[in-house]
Amino acid sequence: MIPPGKALCAAGIIVGLLAFFWRDTFNPDSISGARVLLTGASTGIGEQMAYHYSRFGAEIVLTARRGTLLQKVMEKCLQLGAKQVFYIQADMSSPQAPEKPVLLLIGGLDHLVLNHIGGTPFRMWDGDVEHTRWLMQVNFLSYVALASAALPILAESKGSLIVVSSLTGKISTPFTTSYSATKFALDGFFSSLRHELAMQKQDVCITLCILGLIDTEMALEKTRGKVYMSAYPAAEAALAIIKGGATRAREVFYPWWLELLCCLRDWFPNQRDVVIQSFYNYTSA
Ligand SMILES: NC(=O)c1ccc[n+]([C@@H]2O[C@H](COP(=O)([O-])OP(=O)(O)OC[C@H]3O[C@@H](n4cnc5c(N)ncnc54)[C@H](OP(=O)(O)O)[C@@H]3O)[C@@H](O)[C@H]2O)c1
Repeated sequence: MIPPGKALCAAGIIVGLLAFFWRDTFNPDSISGARVLLTGASTGIGEQMAYHYSRFGAEIVLTARRGTLLQKVMEKCLQLGAKQVFYIQADMSSPQAPEKPVLLLIGGLDHLVLNHIGGTPFRMWDGDVEHTRWLMQVNFLSYVALASAALPILAESKGSLIVVSSLTGKISTPFTTSYSATKFALDGFFSSLRHELAMQKQDVCITLCILGLIDTEMALEKTRGKVYMSAYPAAEAALAIIKGGATRAREVFYPWWLELLCCLRDWFPNQRDVVIQSFYNYTSA
């Protein structure tokens, strides 16, 4: 048996190491004046990110499809302290759209935040291959095109490429077939790109953000009565993403315990799947 003194000492060292690695190194000044291009900024987590960036004094280009909503977000951003805000309407289901917002970046770019998603049903797979193709364009290919257009500008500023993904892009879950596929694709593409940037000694950081269920209107509406889990606040998720990008983290997990889940992902796959399925209501999907 381990003497209590030694056990306490070991526990203290582990707690100390965890506190060191998980300490908050975020410096809000690093965002003041930063030039940010933020997609999916008209609602949800993107809208909340726009407000946080504004409070930190960033210069922001917002993009989404709905101009009336973007106009309102822009006005609030200016009230909150953004140095400069523009918005541009772009529908990312069109292969030509991703270049549009990048053309606005005459003054340069420090943070590219890829966050938008196309609408997708939360239900059993119904064989709609065309929808999957469309969703791949919106959730994945447009991210690749935006990142490619912005990379030379980010390389100049030694900037950050922030990609918003989901737990379903690390561990597959029911009712999210096409969505999950687009998020796994993001991990594959951007993790491979991270290698290549490092090999080319390009100082552009890629931060992949893994989010759990967040209380945005869209997510709550879709999952109501279909999942047994509670949602986390969008404003907190938004701040976690911004901090991760600003501190040049490889990955951000929000809530934090998703990181443990992802580490244990492949240990007991059959039991894992049974546990995951127990959180979903099969009869209402
Ligand atoms: N909420 C969650 O539970 C949750 C969980 C895990 C990960 N996430 C991730 O977090 C990010 C934001 O999610 P959210 O819940 O905030 O979503 P949301 O509220 O539905 O917002 C989606 C944003 O994307 C824009 N958009 C939709 N279709 C578009 C298109 N075709 N072209 C351009 N923009 C388009 C929307 O604006 P318009 O309609 O005006 O275009 C809106 O600004 C996503 O990457 C999502 O995968 C969310």
